[in-house]
Amino acid sequence: MDKSKRKVVIAGNWKMNMTPSEAKAAVAETAKLVEGKTGCEVILCVPFVDIASAVEAAKGTNVKIGAQNVHFEAKGAFTGEISAAMLLETGVEYVIIGHSERRQYFGETDETVNKRTKAALAAGLKVILCLGEVLEQRQSGITSEIVSMQTKLDLAGLTADEMKNVIIAYEPVWAIGTGLTATPDQADEVCGIIRETIAGLYTKELADATVIQYGGSMNDGNAAELLSKVNVDGGLIGGASLVPAKFSKIVDAAQ
Ligand code: PGA
Repeated sequence: MDKSKRKVVIAGNWKMNMTPSEAKAAVAETAKLVEGKTGCEVILCVPFVDIASAVEAAKGTNVKIGAQNVHFEAKGAFTGEISAAMLLETGVEYVIIGHSERRQYFGETDETVNKRTKAALAAGLKVILCLGEVLEQRQSGITSEIVSMQTKLDLAGLTADEMKNVIIAYEPVWAIGTGLTATPDQADEVCGIIRETIAGLYTKELADATVIQYGGSMNDGNAAELLSKVNVDGGLIGGASLVPAKFSKIVDAAQ
């Protein structure tokens, strides 16, 4: 398989961190550090209220801004929710959908992940769709079945054309924020399983063109080895994306 056909995408997931003024400074600092590093796409996914200052600070740089969730309805009585059209107008290009923290703490299911993904794509956003097994599933030896099922359910009904705007982030839940990282071989294996599942749903060509990231305690120390794997096309980075100097080293590793 020719990995060079795919772009490498390094995305930060700030989670619930940074006020708008902090975001402005952090985006500006990150942008300065990754200037001219065009060997990969660089995205920072920020809290909703940070979007305006992040987009402003990213203007004219090679940093793109994303959001961390989107509602599936277009508008209406959904207190506290944000629609895809709202996001698009603020200047975000990407949105994370189905992060394990949303699945774990906010009742997100494969069905709602699928609905959000469809709504985001229909509005013209690009999606970073997260999935991955929990520790008990890995220990029971059913990781392959779980991620393959999530892939099928989360992508249900998406056209091949829509898939061009979907990035998958494989994030083993046991590795998120824990300091435990999947080994490069584990990450490669599961990203490969996701790719095979996509090939079964669509075509091998489409699967070979799909960007599949690894996420879960990726940092400046382990990124190069993870990214060297044939099925790992980038990273979704939480903790280490909050520190521009660390995040930019991951971007360096992806060059
Ligand atoms: P982490 O988070 O890098 O802090 O483990 C990754 C993620 O949740 O996307």
